Amino acid sequence: MIIKVLGSAAGGGFPQWNCNGFHSSRVRAGEAGYKPRLQSSLAVSANGDDWVLLNASPDIRQQINETPELQPARSGPLRASPIKAVVVTNADVDHITGLLSLREGQPFTIYASDRVLATLNSNSIFDVLAADKVKRTVFELDKPTRIEGAGTDLGLIVEAFAVPGKIALFLEKGGADNNFGSRDGDTIGLKVTDSKTGKAFFYIPGVAEIDPPLADKIRGADLIFLDGTLFTDDEMLTQGLLNKTGKRMGHISVSGPDGSIAALSSLNVKRRIYVHINNSNPILDENSEARKVVEASGWEVGFDGMEVRL
Ligand code: MLT
Ligand code: MN
Repeated sequence: MIIKVLGSAAGGGFPQWNCNGFHSSRVRAGEAGYKPRLQSSLAVSANGDDWVLLNASPDIRQQINETPELQPARSGPLRASPIKAVVVTNADVDHITGLLSLREGQPFTIYASDRVLATLNSNSIFDVLAADKVKRTVFELDKPTRIEGAGTDLGLIVEAFAVPGKIALFLEKGGADNNFGSRDGDTIGLKVTDSKTGKAFFYIPGVAEIDPPLADKIRGADLIFLDGTLFTDDEMLTQGLLNKTGKRMGHISVSGPDGSIAALSSLNVKRRIYVHINNSNPILDENSEARKVVEASGWEVGFDGMEVRL
């Protein structure tokens, strides 16, 4: 199984279009130690020919242009794409809007929770994906699903499971209870298994905490790509970027007693890679103390174009 990181940044990318914060301004200026990053998406393939996208980011056109594996073969038919399915983990802008660029008559299958598919179904702009060609399939949570697309079994099994998280920002309602209308299925994690080899990895780009059921699920895994949005919960406030904590946005932090380094320290996950990294996160600076802490803890910082074979 081949896994490619198409975009390692959180929503907005790195640099973000309107951000002049500490890190965005430095990466924009081309300072050493920084890499630009596109928005949150992975691609996975069991056979190297047929690909499944895990989230469809607003940068999808650039991601396809930078990834030959995702382009139509030169010798292929007039209309073709190696992208046969798209799995969506929540309805956030950074994860669904790339679907619009996959218009309009190319056959593929979208997989998502009932909650996320309801959001797509209620927004008529997604009807640019022709209903007779682009299938929308609801994941039954906690049940392994064989992924198919354009009539082919893609050799991948995905188990989707609800994780602690939040409804998409643009769907938030009220706020008095600090829940904003979030329910199970608004944010899912994925276990992706190669049906031939049995090798598996986890992809969880958004998660508010590693609660005991999630810890049990990922214990002993070979590989995880995990939510690396923020290093510390209040960093967007202290950098003057946004009046919100990570918890308020449904994201666990990397550091601290409740952070992901601590939460996974005893779970024996062999390879741990951060993705969905926000422009405020000091791990974006290869020379930062935060980066040293992460690497000394056995974590890797995902980057665009990163390839992992499992
Ligand atoms: C998130 O991951 O919290 C969202 O992508 C934020 C957003 O939609 O701006
Ligand atoms: Mn996001």
